[in-house]
Amino acid sequence: MSEVNLLPASAYKFPSWAIYLGQASTVAERAFEIESDTLRSRHLLHTISIITEGGLALCMSRNESAFERVVGLVKDHERWFSDCLPMIASENVASRRVREVLASDLGHRYAEGWPEERVYAGCKYIDQIELTAIDLGKRLFKAEFIDVRPTSGVVANLAVYSTLSAPGDTLMSLAIPNGGHISTGKKEFSGSAGLVHGLNVEYFAFDKDEMNIDVDKTRKRMRALSKEKPIKIAMFGGSLFLFPHPLRDLNDTVREVGGVVCYDAAHVAGLIAGGQFQDPLREGAEIMTFSTHKTLFGPQGGAIISRGRFSEEIKKSVFPGTTSNHHLHSVAGKALAFAEFLQFGKSYARDVVKNAKGLAQRLADLGEHVLGEKNGYTKSHQVALEITKYGDGGTIERNLENLNIIVNRQLLPGDLQAGRHYTNPGGIRLGVAELTRLGMKKSEMDEVAEILHLALSTDKGREVKARIHALRKNHQKIGYSFENSSAYFFR
Ligand SMILES: Cc1ncc(COP(=O)(O)O)c(C=O)c1O
Repeated sequence: MSEVNLLPASAYKFPSWAIYLGQASTVAERAFEIESDTLRSRHLLHTISIITEGGLALCMSRNESAFERVVGLVKDHERWFSDCLPMIASENVASRRVREVLASDLGHRYAEGWPEERVYAGCKYIDQIELTAIDLGKRLFKAEFIDVRPTSGVVANLAVYSTLSAPGDTLMSLAIPNGGHISTGKKEFSGSAGLVHGLNVEYFAFDKDEMNIDVDKTRKRMRALSKEKPIKIAMFGGSLFLFPHPLRDLNDTVREVGGVVCYDAAHVAGLIAGGQFQDPLREGAEIMTFSTHKTLFGPQGGAIISRGRFSEEIKKSVFPGTTSNHHLHSVAGKALAFAEFLQFGKSYARDVVKNAKGLAQRLADLGEHVLGEKNGYTKSHQVALEITKYGDGGTIERNLENLNIIVNRQLLPGDLQAGRHYTNPGGIRLGVAELTRLGMKKSEMDEVAEILHLALSTDKGREVKARIHALRKNHQKIGYSFENSSAYFFR
């Protein structure tokens, strides 16, 4: 239906600018201003009412076409991504059932509070779903306590800050160029820890060659800082995260300076659950937060686990502290994803780490500057490339996107000192969690490395796209799953 066809014939008699105003009430008001002298005539009032209807019809038709357009854009997105290399390290694909429960009636409902102690009626099945998610999550992470309600990793972190600290207290974390995330960042960079919870954020010392926290310097820094006031939280973990953090080496010092060891596993939760990274709760962390959708199989969301000591405080910090109603459809998706991960997580995590190592090695063999060489490039799902010989990370991110390679630009250690910043950093970050779930293994990683190298170092864009197309042809389904579903079914 076209917009013009929806207008009653009388509407055409009015000035075209009025017709295109779009909102019925505005059409009427503007007409009133123009024709104020003659408006007293009943005839014109009648015409205005017709125009109002015409405006409404126009309005509806525009809304309807916007509605259709958005549906079309989602389809376009899925079509495009089915022909891309999706390598954002914080992303993954969820299986069909996980995606279907997101569209279920649960997404309309309110619960609030803990299962069986809800604020809202109508929760008899919702409670069972959440209790199942809790049971599965505890088994997955061998944790005494889990709260599956946080709606994202950031919300999980904020809840932990509320549990353990008050505004003005000190939190230690990684600086962003060293791999830290904005949710553990300083107020002056709009980091959630500083901006939202009012924490004073201090940084762990970092060793560029090791691509890891410098233990000795961090010990010294914590002791010096604690002379002023105690450090309440040491938040390990990060966004650029190649190697396990030295929790065992720093635990005692954190306790000595009055702090609680916490661990942000937003990125590596799946590798931890699959037994392929470190095991924070067994290495001294009291609390671990994570996203449910990066190296795990879940819908986008967050969760908090602990050894039990702070469970009641965490519950209160989640509700009512940082969330009123949590996302019940997402909780169902988390339960399904945890069940899938208990079944397939071990082999998946092993394959992810193998793929990342394979990709890093092949890229290095092709002459790319892969960080972390000293320790074998990576032990996670990520590979970090220094790309300054080709330009800046922002431009390269865009160029790669034009070639159907989706990656992140990445601030690297030393970038700020070199005058680079977030929009033009010195690196890109590559993730293989999604490619692995799409069934790629060692030989595909070699091909991905060669495609990336071609894209970075030549202008053979056509060849790049053709090779991606050929590679993706056989990788459209979601593996490590009870189903054998397509990754792209919104068509
Ligand atoms: C270390 C770290 N923490 C927290 C988050 C936030 O997670 P979410 O996007 O689930 O809020 C991220 C996101 O990438 C992250 O890298």
